[in-house]
Amino acid sequence: MEQFHYKNNELWCEEVNVDEIVRNVGTPVYVYSRRSIVDHCRWIEQAFGTIDHLSCYAVKANANREVLRTLAHEGIGADAGSVGELYLALAAGFPPEKITFSGVGKRNDEIEFALRRNILSFNAESEEEIQVLSDIAGTLATTARVFLRVNFDIKTTTHPYITTGRRHNKFGVDSSKALSVLRSASRLPGLEVVGIHSHIGSQIIDEETFIAAAEALSRVASNLRSEGINITQINFGGGFGVQYRNYITHRLLPLEPENPEAEVTTVRLLQAILPILKKTGCRIFIQPGRSIVAHAGILLTKVLYRKQGDGKIFVIADAGMNDLIRPSLYQSYHQIVPTRLVENEHEIVDVVGPLCETGDFFALDRRLPHVDRGDSLAVLCAGAYGYVLSSNYNGRPRPAEVMVDGDTFAIVTPREVLEDL
Ligand code: LLP
Repeated sequence: MEQFHYKNNELWCEEVNVDEIVRNVGTPVYVYSRRSIVDHCRWIEQAFGTIDHLSCYAVKANANREVLRTLAHEGIGADAGSVGELYLALAAGFPPEKITFSGVGKRNDEIEFALRRNILSFNAESEEEIQVLSDIAGTLATTARVFLRVNFDIKTTTHPYITTGRRHNKFGVDSSKALSVLRSASRLPGLEVVGIHSHIGSQIIDEETFIAAAEALSRVASNLRSEGINITQINFGGGFGVQYRNYITHRLLPLEPENPEAEVTTVRLLQAILPILKKTGCRIFIQPGRSIVAHAGILLTKVLYRKQGDGKIFVIADAGMNDLIRPSLYQSYHQIVPTRLVENEHEIVDVVGPLCETGDFFALDRRLPHVDRGDSLAVLCAGAYGYVLSSNYNGRPRPAEVMVDGDTFAIVTPREVLEDL
């Protein structure tokens, strides 16, 4: 059951009317449903059944401390992409033995920090990084447990900026080199090669792509084993796509015309790959980010102005690309709904922000119920890669973040004020 829904034509998050949050906290504001975070996490965990595994939440998707605490409490692990995320994950209560460290450019001080905390493992991205891991582990008289990130050159249909598994991308080492890299790595002091890692991109919605990646990962794992490299763990990464269109349907809302993600669920994607990965006999890791938090958050914004352009109606919101950059950066689609539905006619509008950039928009040529100055809009499915990518561009303080728990809500990140700039 999804936690954002209409009751008497008003938008609710769990048992809180979101307009109450608007009145109390102002806009723009991100609102998260704790129950939704927990549900999405548990759906993933349940899909594994009895399979030996560790899901490491990709902190980069949403690093809010309360979100992290909620997930740490669920007992899953965390994948950090920087020392900052590592710090936040530890502070939120993820135990070091459930934390992995990914990233194509780990600095020495970051590696040292991670080794001193004795985190579970590093997803290494190059031969040179493996050497550095060995050197630093040697200096600290400790051992770095390492997965090698392998690039299988898998084609995806996601936005080019969030494709990571093609040969021309900067990530991992070419699968043809995996054996020689791992053979040398296994001779290095201070290093334990435990497995291989793959992450082919984000917001991937077709099963075939995932199946191809799972098969490639399994194939390389068994090749390595037959060559005497004892791989006991495989990390499939994240990338599980989610539904953005028609997330909420209602008789007073237009039906969004295309819906390529209609049938997508993380559970279905997992069900497609788990039988393949399981056959390797390895412990299975995944690093889901978006699939846990995207549906758990919305961005609330107020309509500042309406303006008639040349053949266009602009709805000017008080949130902009500095608050949620996904539409500007990846042409991402986010459903937008008024927080109160009335029997209004629909119209085609551009929903734009207040910044001095033409690229500052949330939706172009979008059919929406008529809204006026002062009305509140909810940009849906904004829990992943929303606040974490926000900025102070154009001298704009970052928005607040609110966590809803049943019939109560709390500000978990205060709105920035001018003095914070
Ligand atoms: N593991 C690694 C190594 C990653 O680089 C990422 C995401 C994940 C896991 C989690 O992927 P997810 O399950 O969330 O797809 N800002 C973009 C997405 C960038 C993804 C970066 N890496 C967006 O807003 O769509």
